[in-house]
This record gives sequence, structure tokens and C-alpha cells, in this order.
Amino acid sequence: MAAKVIDGKAFAAKVREKVKEHVTRLVGEHGVTPGLAVVLVGENPASQVYVRSKGKATTEAGMKSVEHKLDETVSEEELLSLIDTLNQDDTIHGILVQLPVPDHIDADKVLAAIDPAKDVDGFHISNVGLLGTGQKAMVPCTPLGCLMMLREEHGSLSGMEAVVIGRSNIVGKPMAQLLLKDSCTVTIAHSRTKDLPAVSRRADIVVAAVGRPNMVTAEWIKPGATVIDVGINRIEKEDGGTRLVGDVDYDDVAKVAGAITPVPGGVGPMTIACLLANTVTACCRTHGLAEPEGLTA
Ligand code: GUN
Repeated sequence: MAAKVIDGKAFAAKVREKVKEHVTRLVGEHGVTPGLAVVLVGENPASQVYVRSKGKATTEAGMKSVEHKLDETVSEEELLSLIDTLNQDDTIHGILVQLPVPDHIDADKVLAAIDPAKDVDGFHISNVGLLGTGQKAMVPCTPLGCLMMLREEHGSLSGMEAVVIGRSNIVGKPMAQLLLKDSCTVTIAHSRTKDLPAVSRRADIVVAAVGRPNMVTAEWIKPGATVIDVGINRIEKEDGGTRLVGDVDYDDVAKVAGAITPVPGGVGPMTIACLLANTVTACCRTHGLAEPEGLTA
């Protein structure tokens, strides 16, 4: 039987609706408007697109959106000074510095300068440590979106065998922590893993986050498993144009999987929805108000 398609776009729309309802309540009942500041350094075209859609989504959710576009040549000191100003600004509850930053800027230093309470990316070492020790943290948006889709699909994930392919700080490692927190048995596989297909075939849940187009094929998947594809790879078509594909060979894997996320329209839309959710969560925590249900890990 063909796999069920997990519609990330539709699910993200529901999450964004929930965020909007919570924002309306925060504004109406508490006089607080959540605010998100996004900082972009330089003119990376992909980053410009992401930043624009983050800003638009923030405004659509009824929140305050601030964009800081800095020249490619801005000094690390100036960027750190802007972060300091945003850390002190009570109208800003979330700060995101779009990565990558130019080579002359130390990204780790920049991320460490963000107030952990405003770190809606969940990249600050304090949040990494809190998540790793099972405490209340700000959680990176992409893995949070994957977790929400898995919970929606399965309810409880307890006891399930999960294989995360990829060990990045942004997706692979936090994804594994979240699955562990939900009581999965978790394996992190990567490029040096011996017999990757056999390891992947053990899984009830496969999360592919490696950045290699169409790498995961049907032989890697246990029949009926749920497959979450985090990859976004642009490849050339035979007619000379390009198209987006994931890390999973969708047509092949859909023949054996129980459920699968498409690319585009799977994980991607959930990432922005979770950024909005994290901004509301950060705002609620700062003001000591009840957090939105179903929008946190
Ligand atoms: N660049 C690509 N993905 C991300 C992300 O999730 N957060 C930030 N800050 N930059 C990125």
C-alpha cells in the first residue's frame, strides 16, 4: 500500500492558527505583544528569502516583527552591540541571527551573545544543555516541527525505534534528544556509520537530515515505517531547470513506508511555524504566563 503523505503545509497552517489565537489572547488579556527580531548579515539570496518569509509570517500571526539588515562588512563588534541592544529591549522576546554569517564573524560567539531566554533558534549552549538534560529549553525549530508531526501521526512515541541520519547541531543532535525525551530508542547514524541501510531498516521512525539528494531508498526502510525528510536539495533537471528534492528518494520510499513527508511541503513549512511558536513561548516564559499547549516540546 502506498504511504500516507504527511501534509506539512496543512499542519503548519494549523500551528500558525494556534499561535495567532494565543497572540490574540496575550494582547487582549495581558496587553503583551510578542516580538521577534531577525538579523541578517550580507546578501545571501537564500537567507534573504528565508528572512522575508519569517518576517511576513510573524506579522500575519499578529506579532511585532523587526528586521535588521546589516552590510556584509559589518564588524563582529557592531553585530554583538546590536544583539546587546535587542537583549535589553523589552518589546523583543525572540532574537534570530540568520546563518551563515560572513567568515570574519565568529558564529559561535554571536550565538553565545543572545540572551538564552530570547534564543528562539535554540542554538545557545545553555539551551542545548537544558535540552540534553531533559529540562525546559528553547528547542531548535526544525526538529521541533518534526516532533510535532510525529506526535500528530502516532500520539505517543514511547518505545518506538528511531534512527536519525545526520549529526548536525541544528537538526540531528537536537532531534535525537527530543525523540529520547519522548521515550524512543534512538540511534544517530552518519556518514561513517557501517551499513547505513541495515541500521535505518531497524527504525519505526527515520529522520533524514544529511543534505544528500535522494540518498535514502526503499531498501533502507522497514515496511510501514514513518519517514521524515529534512533535506532541501536543489538539483538540475534534464531540461536544464532545477527542482527541490529531499534526502529521501520519495517515489521509491513511498512504496514501502507507512507515512512520509514530501519535499517541498513537509518539514519546511513547519520550521517557520515553530519559530512563531517559540517566540510566543519565549514571551509567555518572560512574563510568567501560561505557555501555549501543544506548541512546545
Ligand atoms: N540558516 C538556515 N537555517 C537556519 C535556522 O534554522 N536558523 C538560523 N538562525 N539560520 C539558519
